[in-house]
Amino acid sequence: MKTEVVSAQECAKAIKLLRDGEVVALPTETVYGLAADALNPDAVAKIFEAKERPRFDPLIVHLPNREALDEIATVESRLARELMEKFWPGPLTIIFSKREIVPDIVTAGLETVAVRMSAHLTFHEVVRKLNRPLAAPSANQFGRISPTTAQHVFDELNGRIPLIVDGGATEHGIESTIVQVANRVIAVWRRGPITDEMLRPFGEVREQTSPVTVGAPGQLPTHYAPRTKLIVVESLREFSPPSGKGIGVLCFSSVGDATPFAVVRQLSERGDPRQAAANFFRMLRELDREDLDLIVAERLPEEGIGAAINDRLARASARFDPSSRA
Ligand code: TXA
Ligand code: MG
Repeated sequence: MKTEVVSAQECAKAIKLLRDGEVVALPTETVYGLAADALNPDAVAKIFEAKERPRFDPLIVHLPNREALDEIATVESRLARELMEKFWPGPLTIIFSKREIVPDIVTAGLETVAVRMSAHLTFHEVVRKLNRPLAAPSANQFGRISPTTAQHVFDELNGRIPLIVDGGATEHGIESTIVQVANRVIAVWRRGPITDEMLRPFGEVREQTSPVTVGAPGQLPTHYAPRTKLIVVESLREFSPPSGKGIGVLCFSSVGDATPFAVVRQLSERGDPRQAAANFFRMLRELDREDLDLIVAERLPEEGIGAAINDRLARASARFDPSSRA
């Protein structure tokens, strides 16, 4: 299959393909998604095939408008409504009880469905004109680094999908926050751009599971993995590099000029965690292309979106260090 890359102005092509039951990569405000008509199981199956994603891992459904929520889910909680009011459209995914109409392949047989509404202009235009909910996981091969540019999607899925819509680099750079609410408690399944601090005014915030626990969907211990070995350190100042190795560094603070490292990528020169998140997957990808022996990543301060980046670092390094913690 030939993969075409078009500009956001040509998103009519995307709508046509989606209507015909095909998959299309689209930009969102978090990362690029690989979209298909969520109510068409054959179309959704193509997402799993293109990504080589195991069928037990459920997908997020993206709404064309707020009214469409009641068609696919039942909303019992007032707190959930308050969160939607505040954060939709935007990078917050909420888990609801699903309705019959949602195919099992979307939810991996679960009784729940994860739903969000993207604020990205191009994504929004496509899903609104299609007027169908879109299932869309991140547009990478399963387990790999999430794509934040159209080029990343091309590198991951060239030849496997018909179309990529190029909307430039994504704004947040990491995937949406995933929550489930009950009573006044907000259980955070995946940290993301809507931080614990932002959720706290609405209810008690709890971590759903420890980030490196196996078993639950969305909680796979190994994820976002580069091909190069990656380790995570508290601080680079306390890290003594083994000699004779090509070491790349992904850091938040500055490492100074005279570094023993072959390549250095600083996530945010002005020390801004939001900018760090926007650069995170791109810089990890760049380091992974450098033919290094080792990537050393420095943890961010464990607050706000820094905590969300730390979760991803823990998963990215889990393959190389099974005892690693978030
Ligand atoms: O920002 C995002 O959320 C991006 C963009 C494209 O929207 N999408 C994304 O999808 O990150 P994906 O498939 O890469 O990650 C979705 C996560 C998976 O870890 C999946 O297991 C979890 O959401 N998930 C989906 N449905 C769920 C459910 N009903 N209960 C628990 N976890 C669920
Ligand atoms: Mg993903």
